Amino acid sequence: MSGLFITLEGPEGAGKSTNREYLAERLREQGIDVLLTREPGGTPLAERVRELLLAPSDEPMAADTELLLVFAARAQHLAQVIRPALARGCVVLCDRFTDATYAYQGGGRGLSETRIAALEDFVQGGLCPDLTLVFDLPVEVGLARAAARGRLDRFEQEDRRFFEAVRQTYLRRASQQPQRYRILDAAQSLSQVQQALDALLPELLELQRG
Ligand code: TMP
Repeated sequence: MSGLFITLEGPEGAGKSTNREYLAERLREQGIDVLLTREPGGTPLAERVRELLLAPSDEPMAADTELLLVFAARAQHLAQVIRPALARGCVVLCDRFTDATYAYQGGGRGLSETRIAALEDFVQGGLCPDLTLVFDLPVEVGLARAAARGRLDRFEQEDRRFFEAVRQTYLRRASQQPQRYRILDAAQSLSQVQQALDALLPELLELQRG
């Protein structure tokens, strides 16, 4: 038995968490075993790495350190949670995965894609999401929503240019591999986004049936 690996991507403030819950509920109504998780994080140890990554600090974090921490958390998450859940036949709904590394460490920080791809291969060994939903949003809308939530984390403190590069990286990757990605317009109202998710449901169920 092997499950289905679905990831949700997009900038801060795109409503990924709310929509992840919504999608999980729709799938569970169909009797499907769903596991909700997130990156960086998803296990107690990986959540500690998340704290290191998100906490603003006086010591600047080198971009390579950031990249390695993201993949260290991912290795733990894959070993403890994602691979076992897929082996049990679950649908794994993961809030962010390696596309975020290409977008944030690649696009945002300017690290080379070749280096990211080498770590991806090392840590994942060919495991890749079956489907990736990109919640796309103009940069200023996402930043305003994040600011309204309160204290900004280390990534949210980045400037517009950083988030423009993040957005463009997601959109470029989606256009290069349209079979794996679905782009949702996250600037719409929540109910419109959820209608778009409802429209995707038959396709997800088809994928799940294999
Ligand atoms: P969020 O999941 O609450 O949006 O916060 C996670 C932050 O971590 C977000 O700003 C994106 C960032 N991130 C990376 O920079 N690289 C990664 O590979 C992942 C998974 C997240």
